[in-house]
Amino acid sequence: MTVLNSKINIVKKPPTRGLSILIQRYQAIFQLWDLLEAEYQKYGDIYIDSFGDITQVLLSNPQAIEQVFTADPNLFAIGKFNRVLEPLLGEYSLIMLDGVEHQKQRKLLMPPFHGERMKAYGQIIIDVTERAIGQWQVGKPFQLREYAAEISLQVIVKAVFGINKTEQYQELIHLLSSCLDIFNSPLKSTLLMFTWLQKDLGSWSPWGQFIRKKKRIEEILSEAIAARRDNSQLLGEDILSLMLSVRDENGAAMTDSEIKDELMTMLFAGHETTANSLAWAFYWIYSHREVRQKLLDELNDINDNTDPNMIAKLPYLSAVVAETLRISPTVVGTFVRQLKQPMELMGYKFAAGTIFSPCIYLVHQREDIYPEPKKFKPERFLKPDPLDENLITFDRPFSAYEYLPFGGGNRRCLGYAFALFEMKLVLGTILARSELTLLDRKPLKPMRRGVTFSPSGGVKMALNKLNLEKK
Ligand code: HEM
Repeated sequence: MTVLNSKINIVKKPPTRGLSILIQRYQAIFQLWDLLEAEYQKYGDIYIDSFGDITQVLLSNPQAIEQVFTADPNLFAIGKFNRVLEPLLGEYSLIMLDGVEHQKQRKLLMPPFHGERMKAYGQIIIDVTERAIGQWQVGKPFQLREYAAEISLQVIVKAVFGINKTEQYQELIHLLSSCLDIFNSPLKSTLLMFTWLQKDLGSWSPWGQFIRKKKRIEEILSEAIAARRDNSQLLGEDILSLMLSVRDENGAAMTDSEIKDELMTMLFAGHETTANSLAWAFYWIYSHREVRQKLLDELNDINDNTDPNMIAKLPYLSAVVAETLRISPTVVGTFVRQLKQPMELMGYKFAAGTIFSPCIYLVHQREDIYPEPKKFKPERFLKPDPLDENLITFDRPFSAYEYLPFGGGNRRCLGYAFALFEMKLVLGTILARSELTLLDRKPLKPMRRGVTFSPSGGVKMALNKLNLEKK
């Protein structure tokens, strides 16, 4: 790193040695949010953490993040750092790709998760949610996260395979959820973080179980691909059909391995993240009576609280979702960006090989951007209408470098619009149809589940009453 013309001082974290290495590893697995905050206090919003011959620059400074997100994407290699997810997603996953290949796949996979194609899933999301509510019994406690996971999995499977084809994928749904459950605790998450733990010691060992389940998932995906290749009448508007029909500039189709890995990526990336974010939203809403009441009033005021498009436009509900993703980002940092050639950032020149790590959690905790950052205040995301002071309209007053739950630049989450739409519909439906009580009395801490974070204990709730009348 060379100083060119910088006005800021970038601090180098002292090298960690001996026992401190173990302590830090422990914290990174069990208390990552606390560790990040402590380092921010000590070293500031841009600091260098070197280990071996790797130089990592942790960024929670919006200006620096802007420079990274708006730089030429060809400056960075990202895919190879995501290799930790290769056992789960496969080598052809969008997440492992860089450059032209990445751009091409993104363009192909984007449309089903946006605009009208996405809106076609509105009624499905509401139906799936109502089915989940139907399983609750008055007085019998349950973990909200389990149901959020079931809902988000059913929804993403429908997006991938087609709205009416879920019945034949029940085994896949079961396998996917039990496969991800293998990493459901901080300790088991280490299986994904350290490749030397990835040993198949038989069907009873965690990695052995994972390998066997993953193999069966791949068989089911291969069968689904073969069935549609053989019978074009099975093709529809879903993501699998789209991948089967696409051709590149030379007329070549995607191979089965490419399709399999991309399907796995959509199923994985679209499921855990949305389920955890929903679990956080329920925790915050049900621990703030006034927030819940405002949401109920807003839902009561619309003509039809079963109309997906009306629910998705509600300003206070949108603000509650935005604030949940700010205060409890299930993904703590964006993918890391490694420099392929030297680059200037904030007046310093960084050598090729340097890794930039934008930290979502720390940016969202900045007091200068979000006063009282530990408080859940959806109003941050609301703006009074200048023409009518009683009317509040939704607006996002923060820049894309101050508010980044979905990352940014050319790697910005492919499913962000879909995730926001789904979260609002699930929350709106559950709030309108049921009266719930949060049973957890103590504040819930973030708990690692693989590469994401969800509320510890899964948000325990009890059903008081069902409101089945629709407006
Ligand atoms: C609340 C839910 C979600 C959150 C918080 C979330 C968050 C993120 C983040 C932080 C990234 C990394 C972006 C970067 O490095 O700049 C990402 C990437 C990605 N997300 Fe999401 N995500 C969510 C839901 C979804 C859904 C529903 C899908 C469905 C397709 C999805 C698919 C992806 C994919 C494919 C990528 C990789 C994009 C690329 O490499 O070009 N995500 N997401």
